[in-house]
Amino acid sequence: MTASADIAATFDAAHQEFDQLAPLLWDPIGAATVRAVAPRPGDRVLDVCCGAGSSALPAAVAVGAAGHVDGVDISARLLDSARAAAQSRGLDNVEFVLADATAWDVTGYDVVQSVFGVFFLPDMDSATARLAGLLRPGGRLAVTTWGPEVIAPVPQLLVDAIVAAGEPAPKRDPRHPADRIDTADKLGGWLAGLGLRDVTVTPFPHRVPLDDDTAWLLVVGTGLRGMLARFDDDTVAAVRRRFTELRAERGADVIETTPLIGIGHTE
Ligand SMILES: C[S@@+](CC[C@H](N)C(=O)[O-])C[C@H]1O[C@@H](n2cnc3c(N)ncnc32)[C@H](O)[C@@H]1O
Repeated sequence: MTASADIAATFDAAHQEFDQLAPLLWDPIGAATVRAVAPRPGDRVLDVCCGAGSSALPAAVAVGAAGHVDGVDISARLLDSARAAAQSRGLDNVEFVLADATAWDVTGYDVVQSVFGVFFLPDMDSATARLAGLLRPGGRLAVTTWGPEVIAPVPQLLVDAIVAAGEPAPKRDPRHPADRIDTADKLGGWLAGLGLRDVTVTPFPHRVPLDDDTAWLLVVGTGLRGMLARFDDDTVAAVRRRFTELRAERGADVIETTPLIGIGHTE
């Protein structure tokens, strides 16, 4: 499988848990991104890696009947959730399209936004520069990323639980693209390096209280799920048991995360 097919398979498999996490995690951060980039009535918005619509849907509300939002993602199951949510909210100015963001070539957008998306794109820099090129002159690019702590302590608990269950520690690419934009300075510098001007970065502190079920949702409803892909059901159950024990031992009863919302303007 290609890297993109692997990612699509991970998020398709995660779709139920991803949806359960939405009110706790994705929706507040998506809404904060839209408040920061502030699409105006009548604007055309592209939401890149839109998932189940946590930022595309509030953007559709903001642009109103005279505006339009295109949401693009490679996970068919998450797009089904997004379409159902749009329908239940009576939003007919948003279209959710199964497409690879690296090939999307519609132009003239007022806003291009991507929440926890760009670091999944092969060659994040050139892919994001190309997406910025889909903006009209004076348009705004919004990129929301994790701060350095991501959803701490869940990723470390998961790695330790995998090892405690007798499996090799998952390897993380030390040059993971997300690490290159995980502070306000790095994200701001990176956006400026793409040729954007008047760059601002706004931290959005967010906390989620953890119980056993919510903590595990943060594994199986996020990209962390990819760490379990190579295990059979029994091994996943063993990892979950060790994860739950370790969380209790360490008294990990909340995640405190500070996503960064970076915005830059085209000339
Ligand atoms: C962590 S989720 C974020 C989803 C959404 N923006 C949100 O905040 O709820 C990352 C999303 O990126 C999508 N994705 C990854 N690579 C992609 C690509 N090349 N083109 C379009 N979508 C992609 C995944 O399918 C997944 O839905």
